[in-house]
Amino acid sequence: MSFAVLVLAAGKGTRMRSRTPKVLHELAGRPLVGWPIAAAHDAGADRVVVVHSPDGALDALLAAAPPTVTGAIQAQADGTAGAVLSGLPALDDAEIRTVVVVPGDAPLVDGQTIRDLVERHEARSAAATVLGAELADPSGYGRLVRDEQGDLLRIVETKAPGDATEDELAIREVNAGVYAFDAARLQAALEQIGTDNAQGERYLPDVLAVLRAAGGAIGAVTAADPDVVLGVNDRWQLAQVGAITRARLLRAHAEAGVTFLDPSSVLVDADVQIGQDTVIEPGVQLRAGTLVGRDCLIGQGTVAIGSDIADGATIRSSTLDGARVGEGASVGPYAYLRPGAQLHAAAKVGTFVEIKNSLIGEGSKVPHLSYIGDADVGPGSNLGAATITANYNAKTKVKSRTVLGANVRTSVDTTLVAPVMLGDRAYTAAGSVVTEDVPEGGLAVARARQRNIDGYADRGA
Ligand code: UD1
Ligand code: CA
Repeated sequence: MSFAVLVLAAGKGTRMRSRTPKVLHELAGRPLVGWPIAAAHDAGADRVVVVHSPDGALDALLAAAPPTVTGAIQAQADGTAGAVLSGLPALDDAEIRTVVVVPGDAPLVDGQTIRDLVERHEARSAAATVLGAELADPSGYGRLVRDEQGDLLRIVETKAPGDATEDELAIREVNAGVYAFDAARLQAALEQIGTDNAQGERYLPDVLAVLRAAGGAIGAVTAADPDVVLGVNDRWQLAQVGAITRARLLRAHAEAGVTFLDPSSVLVDADVQIGQDTVIEPGVQLRAGTLVGRDCLIGQGTVAIGSDIADGATIRSSTLDGARVGEGASVGPYAYLRPGAQLHAAAKVGTFVEIKNSLIGEGSKVPHLSYIGDADVGPGSNLGAATITANYNAKTKVKSRTVLGANVRTSVDTTLVAPVMLGDRAYTAAGSVVTEDVPEGGLAVARARQRNIDGYADRGA
């Protein structure tokens, strides 16, 4: 089979009530339109054309997509038929037998559904085959109108009053907005579609009646899982489809060997990997681009965004953003690992510690109340409570690095004023403000000497 998929992603999406175009709203860490694009790719489409509006909102997304994915502009959002007409020229140079149309706002349509549709369509040499489903609440969807033999006559729209009769509104079999078309017959049929309807738009479903009138066979395939047709027109539908998507993702992880103590409170985006025997506690969010290894514990309330957590790590109630946590390392509770934080194996970052753009060496510990920014900490070191890097010079606006060797011991309340270096096995005294390098094995005492004033309490005011 050689087929192309047109993803319809122009249109205004007014029902979202948003400044962001509908198809760029996120669902489980991916823009809505990314879902049908991925489904088309999974189905093995030879070409994927995303029909979009001329405002440039999708340019970045298309530039980052694989080379089989291209864009086509629909100059005016005059309806779904107009969108398909705008997309077809992008396929002129390709040998395509079947054109599949998928709405950009139907993220639950998967690759298997598209493949099955194409197979059924091509087996019958139909002019068009539409994907339908029975919904308990069909409101807002186009309905499949069949004759007494059960053959599909046409699709009637129901979004705006005036297109459908009462009887038609009672039909619960809906149009998923997903179709396979015989490429050779599609263009001419689309050109016959008018705008004589409640919305004054060119409705793509009308093409079925045109193809049928020209003698073509029209097929209808019922989706095995009715959820796949669910479209997102407003934010409540986005939330509902989001809940279904999350449950599917969690289930796939659970089936692959991940334990969720309370799946209903956990949010795992698409494109997240989790290794076997990892345990996820309640209230965890693993956002896009996060990789979690095997045998990890991801503790309650942890949020990880684009972070890499190696095998056997323990993260308790912490936030990680663009961080890397090495094998067997331990983080939290209440740590904040910011972009460029990199913990080597068996390192420990404890309570109320913030780390940014810093390497924490193998087995090194930053246990309590510290800010470590722009630092390289060698292996086996231990930073006392409230060790702070003063990495930013407010006057020059320059950030500098702090470099600590292996087996360094800073005592509590050490301020390391960057740029500064501490050699291997160096020490600092409690309360030191370290502004000069400390040699290997040395101790920096950088604080005022204590002076006691005798009898102070007994003095008069
Ligand atoms: C459409 C179908 C309806 C079906 C439903 C399934 C039509 C007329 N109706 O209705 O039968 O049950 O999908 O979800 O097709 N778009 C464009 N250009 C346009 C208009 C829309 O690219 O000019 C895109 C939108 O971005 C959207 C998709 O096409 O992703 C569908 O458009 P939408 O307005 O959401 O159609 P529905 O009212 O949901
Ligand atoms: Ca829709």
